[in-house]
Amino acid sequence: MSTPGFRMTITDDYEAMSAEACRIIADAIAEKPHIVIAFATGGTPTRMYEMLAEKYRAGEFRTNKMIAVKLDEWGGIPIDDPGTCETYLNKHVIWPLDIPDKHYLSFESNPANPISECTRIKNTLDNLGVIDICVLGLGANGHIGMNEPAGKLEPRPHVANLAESTRHHPMLKDSPAVSYGMTLGMEDILGAKKIIMLVNGAHKAPQLERLISGEISAQFPASYLRQHPDTLVIADKAAVGK
Ligand code: PGA
Repeated sequence: MSTPGFRMTITDDYEAMSAEACRIIADAIAEKPHIVIAFATGGTPTRMYEMLAEKYRAGEFRTNKMIAVKLDEWGGIPIDDPGTCETYLNKHVIWPLDIPDKHYLSFESNPANPISECTRIKNTLDNLGVIDICVLGLGANGHIGMNEPAGKLEPRPHVANLAESTRHHPMLKDSPAVSYGMTLGMEDILGAKKIIMLVNGAHKAPQLERLISGEISAQFPASYLRQHPDTLVIADKAAVGK
């Protein structure tokens, strides 16, 4: 069963998926300048972020008050490695949208103490209040952020034991091996007022099918989105097998 707040929009292609998500997010930033947005990395949202930067440059919204939160990060590699979520977000979100350092909450990729780093993120999030929008991609194994399939999911920011498939994510193709991840937890994500999940491509069709009609289970963390009061999945036709 899904709540009525779990909805899906199907677009023709990747470009249209990106444009639809971009429109919703740009409108939300324009409406609430103090908005808190958690940003996913990965192949899926890249075009949407490019479009968001175009709208920003066109003056459609201001970003001087918004807060950006990094959803997750690879652990044990230098922060300036080309594969870090930091490098990705700087390139696609933080720099193009002129978000100042003090408005960017971000896991270090190579902290002396990863557990303390997650506690720092948790404490800062608690001071920020709720996340207004959480942007997500759908993991090949059903993960959201780096909340990997497991017997029990962690509610708050934590050090993640990464699945083998996640360690070989395309983002890391030119990077040293990662030993762990750090991620917002399930309660952080599901506590967001609005969740926008982007899914594109035929290679994600089995995962999307499982998200929509499979069992709600910790073995497929994305399935919990079906219990969230305001989740919009924006998928292209290929991802729904059309
Ligand atoms: P992708 O990654 O956007 O590169 O498919 C999604 C994920 O692993 O969460």
